[in-house]
Amino acid sequence: MAQARKPQENELMEKIVSLCKRRGFIFQSSEIYGGINGFWDYGPLGARLKWNVRELWWQAMTSRDDIVPLDASIIMHPKVWQASGHVDTFSDPMVDCKLCKARFRADQLHETPCPRHPSKMASECEGEKTEPRAFNLMFKTTVGPIETEENIAYLRPETAQAIFVQFKNILETSRQKAPFGICQIGKAFRNEVTPRNFTFRSREFEQMELEFFIRPDEVVERIAGSVARLDEAADLSAPQKNWGWQLWHKYWVEERLCWYESIGLPRDSLEEYWQTPEELAHYARATVDILYKFPFGTQELEGIAARGDFDLKAHQEASGKSMEYFDEEARIRYIPHVIEPSAGVDRLVLALICNAYTEETVPNEKGQPEQRVVLRFHPRVAPIKVGVFPLLRNRPELVQKAREVRDLLRPHMTVFYDESGAIGRRYRRQDEIGTPFGVTIDFDTLGETPELKDTVTVRDRDTMAQIRVKISELPAYLLQKLR
Ligand code: GAP
Repeated sequence: MAQARKPQENELMEKIVSLCKRRGFIFQSSEIYGGINGFWDYGPLGARLKWNVRELWWQAMTSRDDIVPLDASIIMHPKVWQASGHVDTFSDPMVDCKLCKARFRADQLHETPCPRHPSKMASECEGEKTEPRAFNLMFKTTVGPIETEENIAYLRPETAQAIFVQFKNILETSRQKAPFGICQIGKAFRNEVTPRNFTFRSREFEQMELEFFIRPDEVVERIAGSVARLDEAADLSAPQKNWGWQLWHKYWVEERLCWYESIGLPRDSLEEYWQTPEELAHYARATVDILYKFPFGTQELEGIAARGDFDLKAHQEASGKSMEYFDEEARIRYIPHVIEPSAGVDRLVLALICNAYTEETVPNEKGQPEQRVVLRFHPRVAPIKVGVFPLLRNRPELVQKAREVRDLLRPHMTVFYDESGAIGRRYRRQDEIGTPFGVTIDFDTLGETPELKDTVTVRDRDTMAQIRVKISELPAYLLQKLR
């Protein structure tokens, strides 16, 4: 029987960071030049894992009739960021240490180590700190060959604003009716004062954002004659008594929690946190954070904000272009209100790796106890779905058959073909990167035991149980398991 264990918290993060580098999930950016703080590169396996995460989110959103996608530019007109409030308010309070000259977030002094005495926190060291100053988190650049104030532009700090700015174009071309959503996946940039916890707080990261446009409550109220009809007007069948934006807000919190579960994060690893009125951003009526229990603490994966009409109204005022929607049912124009589920790809990838990491003591081929590291990814997110192995590499008939099996599976799933080393070691290598299945081609496949001819061994990563499957039935068998 396998005995699973999770190492202690600090030890666990060190092991995860080391595995990510050793097996090609995540590397420090520009590592050969000493790295650059807050930037990360995804290696061959990390890139596949990240791709799967994006694809699953994309499918969950765009397979609905009421959501359409957008792929907008990263650099937009600087007036976008003035209207959205980012130029004036997107900042962190920052202090400098007069002794060591390091810069810290004022609200994180008690949790950031002092660079001179790393055993102490910055709040405990003797260095006197300056008064807090606002530090804008947007990265600046200039557009065109001349570096002047007028040519300043910003790398977007969130993907959301492009959705608001393109609201009218999308509405007119997609012929959607409220309630409906616009979703986008893309890079965002924030010049974080203290990037940390591996990829958790980075300076370049990716967001998956949905802006879901709904009728304002006063319109719903006008359309509906009774409380019972308010539920219908909000287009939800759930027999809840609250209505309008609250209903949609709760709906999206539940949808998103279910989605996280569907890709392998157990419900008990997640927490729902309702921000207090003091914590709410100036545009939000309510915000629910979905938190994950990372080894370094329970932290935000996604924020689901009820943003009212703040953004569309701000862009209407600043651009002079109407952001109104004509509601044919109610025969009135209004600026829709917005529910915004906003998730980070990188944080989710990190959560999936943390959740998957397990150390186990298992019997080896000789029955002796052996340590194995296994990433128990949900098959949907696993970067490689199946490993294909000829039992021995020096037997051409086994190698040829194994390559045939690889080619049979490759159109359906990501396959890793490996013929080097003892079969037990090959299994362990795939366990460590989270490959759910291993397929071995042996002498029985070639007909040594006549009734097993043209069958292969399929090994399950988690239970290590092995069964024989006919090659002709293998793609269907694995596809069904991978779902
Ligand atoms: N449009 C709303 C918005 O951007 P946010 O809470 O600032 O809201 C949404 O960001 C998500 O983006 C976060 O829940 C997180 O997953 C991700 N995110 C934000 N800042 C990040 C950073 N510095 N590094 C990695 N991910 C980040």
